[in-house]
Amino acid sequence: RRIIIDTDPGQDDAVAILLALGSAEIEVAGITCVAGNVSLKLTENNARKICELAGRPDIRVFAGAIRPLTRQLVTAEEVHGQTGLDGPQLPEPIMKLQDRYAVDFIVETLMGEESGSITLCALGPLTNLALALIREPRTAPRIREIVLMGGGFFEGGNITPAAEFNIYVDPHAADVVLKSGVPIVMMPLDVTHKAMTTAKRTAEIRNLGTSVGRAVADMLEFYERFDEEKYGSDGGPLHDPCVIAYLLKPELFRGRNCNVVVETASELTMGMTVIDWWGVTKRPKNATVMRDIDHDGFFALLTERLARL
Ligand code: RIB
Ligand code: CA
Repeated sequence: RRIIIDTDPGQDDAVAILLALGSAEIEVAGITCVAGNVSLKLTENNARKICELAGRPDIRVFAGAIRPLTRQLVTAEEVHGQTGLDGPQLPEPIMKLQDRYAVDFIVETLMGEESGSITLCALGPLTNLALALIREPRTAPRIREIVLMGGGFFEGGNITPAAEFNIYVDPHAADVVLKSGVPIVMMPLDVTHKAMTTAKRTAEIRNLGTSVGRAVADMLEFYERFDEEKYGSDGGPLHDPCVIAYLLKPELFRGRNCNVVVETASELTMGMTVIDWWGVTKRPKNATVMRDIDHDGFFALLTERLARL
């Protein structure tokens, strides 16, 4: 799979990027950054730190949207720390940020490479993807698939009672993507909350004995404290790595083709993804929504691939 990762690193984004870079089945055409967990200046800097941690300064990293399409940016330092990548002490990156605007890179790659050869993996607010689809609608039929982490239904929200963070930050962008007609695989909180770190799982990663293993364990130990306090859980949910794990082993996941519509009017439920899981409407089934995961298989895959870096 040749992919573009659109991301707002974020510790869980970092683990997803490392999982992709540790997997020979995946070729990363580029990493496009968006404002989300923290500001764009930090997310692009974090993306470069992660590529260098993986020993991959050759990966092209682009900066994209500095804010959502219409709403004010909402960030999540309380979860990810002031840098967005608190936990490990990673050196300032040496590799350069690409000059090209991320949205131009997405459009030019989709229009220039063989139709159907690129998968978009969205790990943050969908602003960059929406801008690409609006700027060049001819990209839509050329996208093999969009695999995104976002939304929630049975699980409720994590930033408001109704909405998950990525969708909440830019609901209008999510609306553009959900109505694009592009094949979508959606990893909502309903499945990512079943991909929980534990002390044992984090220790196994730390015991890889590599700089990547130590850095990831430091990230997880910082990142999981928020969910432990909020949900009383043991560990935190590895949201974004579910997107990459799906590309590697789709059989780890169970879900169904459904209609998904996002709330863009009511402030009460802004960003809520209304998933017609029981097919009670005649609305088009525009996404494969995942609800279950083999979490032991997921962590075995993740640990084995991280060991390769
Ligand atoms: O709600 C979880 C999502 O929001 C994850 O992608 C996390 O990195 C944050 O962006
Ligand atoms: Ca993210």
